[in-house]
Amino acid sequence: MEEKTQTREQEFETRFQKYYDELKWLYYELYENGEQAFKELCEKLYEWYLERKDSLKELDRTRESDPGWYKRNDLLGMMMYVDAFAENLTGVMNKLDYLEECGVNYLHLMPLLASPKGRNDGGYAVADFRTVQPELGTMEDLEKLADECHKRGISICLDFVMNHTSEDHEWAKRVRAGEKEYQDRYFFFDNFDIPGQYEQTVPQVFPTTAPGNFTWLPDLGKFVMTTFYPYQWDLDYRNPVVLNEMVYNMLNLADKGIDIIRIDAVPYIWKQLGTSCRNLPQVHSIVRMMRMICEIVCPGVLLLGEVVMEPEKVVPYFGSVEKPECHMLYNVTTMASTWHTVATRDVRLLRRQMDIVNGLPKEYVFLNYLRCHDDIGWGLDYPWLRNFGIDEVAHKRYLNDFLTGQYHDSFARGELYNSDPTSGDARLCGTTASLCGIEKAVYEHTRDALFRAVRLDIMLHGYMLVQSGIPVLYSGDEIGQVNDYTYHEDPDKWADSRYLHRGKFRWDLAELRKKPGTLQNDIFAALSRMEKIRASLEVFQGNSDVRTVDTWDDSILGIVRENNGQKLVALFNFSEYDRTAWIDEGDGMYTDLLGGSEMEARGVKMPAYGIFWLLRKDAG
Ligand code: GLC
Repeated sequence: MEEKTQTREQEFETRFQKYYDELKWLYYELYENGEQAFKELCEKLYEWYLERKDSLKELDRTRESDPGWYKRNDLLGMMMYVDAFAENLTGVMNKLDYLEECGVNYLHLMPLLASPKGRNDGGYAVADFRTVQPELGTMEDLEKLADECHKRGISICLDFVMNHTSEDHEWAKRVRAGEKEYQDRYFFFDNFDIPGQYEQTVPQVFPTTAPGNFTWLPDLGKFVMTTFYPYQWDLDYRNPVVLNEMVYNMLNLADKGIDIIRIDAVPYIWKQLGTSCRNLPQVHSIVRMMRMICEIVCPGVLLLGEVVMEPEKVVPYFGSVEKPECHMLYNVTTMASTWHTVATRDVRLLRRQMDIVNGLPKEYVFLNYLRCHDDIGWGLDYPWLRNFGIDEVAHKRYLNDFLTGQYHDSFARGELYNSDPTSGDARLCGTTASLCGIEKAVYEHTRDALFRAVRLDIMLHGYMLVQSGIPVLYSGDEIGQVNDYTYHEDPDKWADSRYLHRGKFRWDLAELRKKPGTLQNDIFAALSRMEKIRASLEVFQGNSDVRTVDTWDDSILGIVRENNGQKLVALFNFSEYDRTAWIDEGDGMYTDLLGGSEMEARGVKMPAYGIFWLLRKDAG
């Protein structure tokens, strides 16, 4: 097959040729008779390139010449629902000053494409990949917002929900209209024979809210595969048309100015009978192809993989040095281990987890976070915990009891998510502030408890900011916003407790960030201060050496960062008691960047939920 090369622009051509062989090879490996489809894909790539406006092409070039642009320590993310934050996209545009005040330069907007009311899984059931949900605005609004963000140095991240479409998507409608060609884009079965075989090896994502992996469609007299909710039909990537069309949908978002494509639920996209249908090798081929396609059409665009799994499953999504896949991945196990530590006041598991992450190549970029739009799943290192006689089911019960406030001395206010009575398993929802005790303390008017809760909240953020990678705040956390229980009364939401932490942004409370003495001011000011320090010091750069240090107190986590002569010793007391970090760095005087005092990094007395960021003096 001869590719037309003469007429294409040089820049595109060079990039295209660089990846052509590998792309073709992978494509043909997946699709035996994929010649025609591959040819079409290649032609379309050029069209998407031509479609890309000059300002974005310019951005591509700048980023190509500075490939580490997203690894800088001054990156600070925030994720938010457009409607909860500012009603619609124009509203977000009008609030960009606030986001700049928060120091945010990476903005993850939660799903905003057209999806049916009441059957949308928070926007993750997309009915049209080319249209913005009308209540939120239009594609033009999104484009304008992206332009304005770029002017301000803010990058935008958007979900690309590629595992499934909504049953209201045009393809699904055409299936219902009897078009066989469209049926082949999903997994359809006339009876439960094969679905039954799948069910033997495929685990469940939503065991309580959406049990099973298949849905019976009485109007069609068929079963369709639905790994998530029944209205989210899984796409069949064994059909090359599906891959091509979805790639075009991705490139369309990129051409609207989206900088970071969050590949939603990526481990699930390839299914094979007799397997768990997770993380199959074909998934990696597809992600690698998507990476190459972006490098060809829009090299300034980054891929963020959503892989909510244990570290061994997550890391392969970075690909290899020669054949990279995702640019960034979520540091999910660290996040879950953090909440385990809050509930147990025992840092040993967290320390082990951090040692694992710190042992990975420094090129890997992780997104660090305390809370996101999803629940907290207890994907902890149970094989290791078992060494301490910890039983998984009992331990999860303790974590959930503590974090939902059932345990006798608990300050946390969370709710269970997908509690599965058969396995005794359950996940957890709630905002950082509510899980830290702010909600309870405010409700009960207990000053001391509020003081402690705010300190815990700030300490957790300070600990997140010390990790290498991109810290991502959850909108509302910067002002200590608590749970929103109104979803209990909403018929479209009540069954999904993740809405507990998806409440409307409280602009009235945000105003209080300017008023000293309020908890909003305490948290906002502390976060701003720490973020500024983080952005200004070399020791926070991603290429620093990072290790944990033994504090000889199981409640205190110690992290040491070193870069080019700078040294930071960061200490975090996860207990509600005053403790001492029995460290002895013995190398001179340190300045506590947060409290301002000068001290030695030695036998450091720490208040309950205290935090120290000690920078060695005379640091070069
Ligand atoms: C991802 C999203 C989650 C959604 C699921 C299905 O895991 O984070 O919110 O329910 O995908 O699209």
